[in-house]
Amino acid sequence: MDDSGQQQVPRHVAVIMDGNGRWARARGLPRHAGHRSGVKSVRETVEIAAKRGVSYLTLFAFSSENWRRPADEVSRLMGLFLEALQREVADLHRNNVRLRFIGARERLQSDLIDSIAVAEKKTQDNDGLNLIVATAYGGRWDLVEASKSLAKKAISGELSVDDIDDDKLAAELSLAGIPDPDLLIRTGGERRISNFLLWNLAYAELWFCDCLWPDFGEQQFDEALAYYRSRQRRYGYTGDQVA
Ligand code: FPP
Repeated sequence: MDDSGQQQVPRHVAVIMDGNGRWARARGLPRHAGHRSGVKSVRETVEIAAKRGVSYLTLFAFSSENWRRPADEVSRLMGLFLEALQREVADLHRNNVRLRFIGARERLQSDLIDSIAVAEKKTQDNDGLNLIVATAYGGRWDLVEASKSLAKKAISGELSVDDIDDDKLAAELSLAGIPDPDLLIRTGGERRISNFLLWNLAYAELWFCDCLWPDFGEQQFDEALAYYRSRQRRYGYTGDQVA
């Protein structure tokens, strides 16, 4: 924290990793080569985030809408997640990383579901970087699931409808108990949220870059952190009140 109480390093960074397909196309390669190259950027980003003192890193790996992609691309992506998970989990564990997945897990293939469960269990007591991978995730899906859960509690009498507030709803979301992202990074040139953490990103600082995800690395991460440090976060207060 500096004198104004603002954190110098964001506690939670969320990332939309976009541009793998264009990176591949620019090299005359198939799209899946771009995704494969994107895994390297994931690895590098995890290392830098830990080194810079970020506590939570949430990566958007596959959205609820990505199921609409050609079957071959979806299947190759799932294969890549499985391969990367099985290859990296020991190293992540050695580096004290706690790994968690959010999203409609039941929609994934069974060997991936099993590997996710193994990885989460293996790393559950680690207290270094929290790495959260959003797979088959959508912000609307998350809000719908939370609403269903609140409705069930209201019907069973566990919760009164008038007691539903921000905290009660947040407690039903995938990131319950985890501080909201302070900074959202999106590569690939688009300036939109694309149904990522709709509730949790309410006050995040947004940093967009034109670079494609396989080209993202330490330099770009540090640029995003510098941008974050330059922002005054007001949460509805005036600038004078915050200062
Ligand atoms: C968006 O680029 C990227 C994805 C849908 C997949 C992201 C996956 C990875 C980076 C692979 C590894 C991830 C983990 C967690 C091991 P795009 O295909 O939409 O690119 P385009 O906009 O150029 O077509």
